Amino acid sequence: MKTSQLFQTALEPDALHMFFHDVRQTSERLAEPLSDADATVQSMPDASPAKWHLAHTTWFFEAMVLKPFVSAYKTFDEDFHFLFNSYYETLGARQPRPRRGMITRPALSHILDYRKHVDDALDALLRTTAGRRITELVELGCHHEQQHQELLLTDILHLFAQNPLHPAYRDPGPVTVETADRLPLFFTTFDEAIVEIGHGPVGFAFDSEGPRHRVLVEPFRLADRLVTNAEWADFVNDGGYKKSLLWLSEGWAKVQAEGWSQPLYWEERDGQKWTMTLRGFQPLDPTAPVTHISYFEADAFATWSGKRLPTEFEWETAARGIVIQGNFLDTHCLRPKPASPHVGGLQQMFGDVWEWTRSAFLPYPRFRTVEGAVGEYNGKFMSGQFVLRGGSCITPPGHMRASYRNFFPGHARWQFSGLRLAEDA
Ligand SMILES: [Fe+2]
Repeated sequence: MKTSQLFQTALEPDALHMFFHDVRQTSERLAEPLSDADATVQSMPDASPAKWHLAHTTWFFEAMVLKPFVSAYKTFDEDFHFLFNSYYETLGARQPRPRRGMITRPALSHILDYRKHVDDALDALLRTTAGRRITELVELGCHHEQQHQELLLTDILHLFAQNPLHPAYRDPGPVTVETADRLPLFFTTFDEAIVEIGHGPVGFAFDSEGPRHRVLVEPFRLADRLVTNAEWADFVNDGGYKKSLLWLSEGWAKVQAEGWSQPLYWEERDGQKWTMTLRGFQPLDPTAPVTHISYFEADAFATWSGKRLPTEFEWETAARGIVIQGNFLDTHCLRPKPASPHVGGLQQMFGDVWEWTRSAFLPYPRFRTVEGAVGEYNGKFMSGQFVLRGGSCITPPGHMRASYRNFFPGHARWQFSGLRLAEDA
């Protein structure tokens, strides 16, 4: 099957060229507040150094576009192929993921030189009449880099949270805590329907968002907003982390093994709840959406509430037709914001926090992986992970779609992940 049927392309040459420049500049702007040390340390095996993200996204263009398609291209450094390949078995051996933090050399400045070398080569290529196969791969490379922009920030947050000084990535001043009263929770009812799920024919999409297909969705109700920190504190205070009956077996094992008693970055100071953010250590905002929780915690909370998590099909059904706007990276807020008083419809569907669904990340009917290395992009991860929907406060604007499927293992907590409740109707 051809790439164009799975990684759909949307952009004309000029628009692609501009998109490429915008994405590449955004990554470097995101890294500007970081020292070489900040960009080199790896805080845990799941997180990667910022320097690695900057280099790996560059390697992607080099390995997928320049080396296969531009015969005159001069490789910047042959060793980088080993250092910055992520998981592409068909492209050869690589630095083990948990040891990416050992790459103290090359320095950050040298990685920026690498970026410029590849940018110049891509610039020249995009000024020619590059074939469709090439433009598709460049566009995929841009969306891939946007995914790494979000990872760069979540990995920096995790790193800075390990530092007893709680440094801020940006804007360290105190953040205003909303003092609004708790908002009531309303549910919108959706009738039984056979719905079209997956990306349509227009615009870019990752392969895992298709093929579009029909799904029978039973009647359900979906909460009008995300679960808040105050509601999560009720769960904690009611012994939610101590009641095994609320938990899936694998989740309860994690609670025991890891000593989970609250979301990842919550801390108690002088009898008050604080949390680590990209803007440093801040008092917890009770009206803001809870974030940095695992699938297992989200599921236990939903059970405690007498509700459940939505399926990804229910979520996508509800999201269709809603304008894709919200608290994304371009608000510069860098944290999820409270919902507005009830406005009569679903809110916070896009941005703020990724919403755990109860759906396993599986191939849609008739899904086929693309031939070659790029086929390793998503397909081989379709086991043992759950789907999250909607994007977060650090997702780049323009990167989100109603059909977008993010995925993480059930125990992952370091992403901006939260939840919205659902129930059967
Ligand atoms: Fe990657």
